Amino acid sequence: MKKIGVLTSGGDAPGMNAAIRAVVRAGIYRGIEVYGIYHGYRGLITGNIKKLNVSDVGDIVQRGGTILYTARCEEFKTEEGRQKGIEQLKKFGIEGLVVIGGDGSFRGGVKLTELGFPTIGIPGTIDNDIPGTDFTIGFDTALNTIIDAIDKIRDTATSHERRFIVEVMGRGCGDLAMWAGLADGAETIMVPEKKESIDTIVERLNRGLQRGKKHNIILVAEGVGSANDVADAIKARANMDTRVTVLGHVQRGGSPTAFDRVLASRMGSRAVELLLKGEKGKMIAVQNNKIVTHDILNVLTKKHEFNNDLYKLAKELSI
Ligand code: F6P
Repeated sequence: MKKIGVLTSGGDAPGMNAAIRAVVRAGIYRGIEVYGIYHGYRGLITGNIKKLNVSDVGDIVQRGGTILYTARCEEFKTEEGRQKGIEQLKKFGIEGLVVIGGDGSFRGGVKLTELGFPTIGIPGTIDNDIPGTDFTIGFDTALNTIIDAIDKIRDTATSHERRFIVEVMGRGCGDLAMWAGLADGAETIMVPEKKESIDTIVERLNRGLQRGKKHNIILVAEGVGSANDVADAIKARANMDTRVTVLGHVQRGGSPTAFDRVLASRMGSRAVELLLKGEKGKMIAVQNNKIVTHDILNVLTKKHEFNNDLYKLAKELSI
């Protein structure tokens, strides 16, 4: 294999640039050419592809977002769209591909592998919702962004003796809410993996009031529903006023943490090694701080495991 491509797809995540840098430099270090495919699968279809040199990925390890841009591409889900992509790969002489993204992006990678273009997936998403890996690139940075925001909210919550409801991202996965809740001592953590009734939440709020608590943070994972609906339900049930903060896309930006940069570097380099060994259809993962690989097809049939121990611990410590 002499030429490989790299693309980012789906929602961006801090650390994607560090992964791109690692793929490009690990490739060049091993004597191959690396091509950047811009705008995800959309750029593959239209041939928005450029050879990347060592200096093209200089000064990006610390930057959030993705220098290759990203997109969610419906056309690539069709046979016709994929054929157009294959034609572009042939035109540029690209023989293997590294796809940095989430499970949707990996489905495209599986198809490319089936069509004769070995593809390796790197999990990049703030959601941490990919099965088989302890962490995805971007999760740690997003978590730190959330914690920074909640620390600030806590200051004003205490001053005004208010209850705050904070909604965080994560799609159907409660990891961002759960880890942030544990790290920030939130009184209530609402995640899609565990159901908690409004009655229980109101009971906890009342208990807190009785023991003189000055503030209260309720963290809501977007997979549960909207924080505004939770606020309305609390108002309807207990006539309690709350303030709502929806953190939104601020969680997707910012300079990646050291953890995400290192993880991205390790994963990017391993992806290149795998392609050069003739591997295909694999996803890079981290488990117990070791870089490991799984069959992407296998990953796609599983569900990310929710960490019940951490959830239990968060509850235990927020009595
Ligand atoms: O998958 C990352 C993510 O930020 C989710 O947490 C969120 O639900 C979604 O993307 C938002 O997507 P968009 O940026 O397209 O609105």
